[in-house]
Order: sequence, then structure tokens, then C-alpha cells
Amino acid sequence: MAASQQKNSKSKDDQDSVSMPDAYTDDRRNFVAKMASVVIGATVGLVPFIAGVISFLNPLSSKNRTPEFYAGKSGDAVEGYVRVTTLDALSDGGAPQRFPVIDDKFDAWNFTPDQAIGAVYVRRQGETVTVFNATCPHAGCSVQCDGTKFVCPCHNSAFNLDGTKTDSSSGRPNPSPRSMDELETRIEDGQVWVDFKSFYTGRHEKVAKA
Ligand code: FES
Repeated sequence: MAASQQKNSKSKDDQDSVSMPDAYTDDRRNFVAKMASVVIGATVGLVPFIAGVISFLNPLSSKNRTPEFYAGKSGDAVEGYVRVTTLDALSDGGAPQRFPVIDDKFDAWNFTPDQAIGAVYVRRQGETVTVFNATCPHAGCSVQCDGTKFVCPCHNSAFNLDGTKTDSSSGRPNPSPRSMDELETRIEDGQVWVDFKSFYTGRHEKVAKA
């Protein structure tokens, strides 16, 4: 009997000697797991927060999206002008040719390069180049050119190739309050540059939008 009690006692001691390190190990595992989840959670939350703060404080900081970067790409830019074509691409004495106007758009928070901001008609007569905004001065539709005159499909405004108002072939009065809007132009090294502006429609006077 005594031997049996001694044996049971020894067995309990053996159990204690095994269970205490196991409990310690489990606590340590739990602690490490909790710390890992805290670190991962903080990282997942903080990274986008910090990126958002940086973007908010300096939205144009990315050097591949700055006006300076794209100005460098465009070569010898003429200040305030947009390049629309080359002199060689124009038909001398032919009908005015239509070109899109591509420029960068940006404000304090956004910079979007190479956006279509309008269209122009370019007419070449020898070394003289005349450029018109393709927007109808009546109500803003896009004017078309049939080779002999400009016509607007919306309300039948019509213009001569030099941009002046003319009678509409429809027989109805020409509703445009003014002639087509001519734009300032420069020729540099065979490139045609335009001081592109949009103007208020429906007015007799030509007033550029800000
Ligand atoms: S918008 Fe061109 S005629 Fe009215």
C-alpha cells in the first residue's frame, strides 16, 4: 500500500514537472501571436494612412507626373502655346485642316498630361498660317469644313474659309453673333504653335474664358 502511495505521489510529481513548462510555452506562444497580430494590424493600417498624408500634403510630388517632367519631354516648348502640327503637314492653298489640341491639364491637386482640350482648323497660304477655334461662336457646337466654307450642323451657321460670317445655304439667317474665333499663331522651326483659348458663345464680342 505504501509502495502504491509512493508510486502515485511520484506520478503526480512527474505530471507537474511536465505541465508547468507546457503552460509556460503556451503563454509565450499566445503572447507572440498577439504581438504579431498587433504589429501586422498597425502596419496594414498605417501604410495607407501615411501614403495618404504624403499625397495630401504634396500631390504633385511624384516626379513622373509633374509639369516640369513633361515640359522636359516636350522639347523646345513655346511658352503658353500648344504645338498642333508641322508646316509640311499643311496643304498650301488647300482647304483648312482640322487638328485636335492636346495639352496638359493641372490645378493645385491634379496633373493630367496629354489631354484633348479642343480642336482647331489650320489654313496655310504660302508661309502664312491662320488658325481658328473649331467651336461655333453661336452655341458651342463643332464646326465642320466642306472645303469651300465652314458650316455648323446645329443651327446652320456658315463662315467663309477666312472665318468671316456668310449666308447659310439653308436660306435661313445665320444665327452666329460673330465670325469664327481666330487664334494667335507662331511658326518655330517648321512647327505650328497656337495660343489656344476658348471663348464665350452667343456674344457679339470675342471674350476669352479664364
Ligand atoms: S451652335 Fe453652331 S449654329 Fe448654333
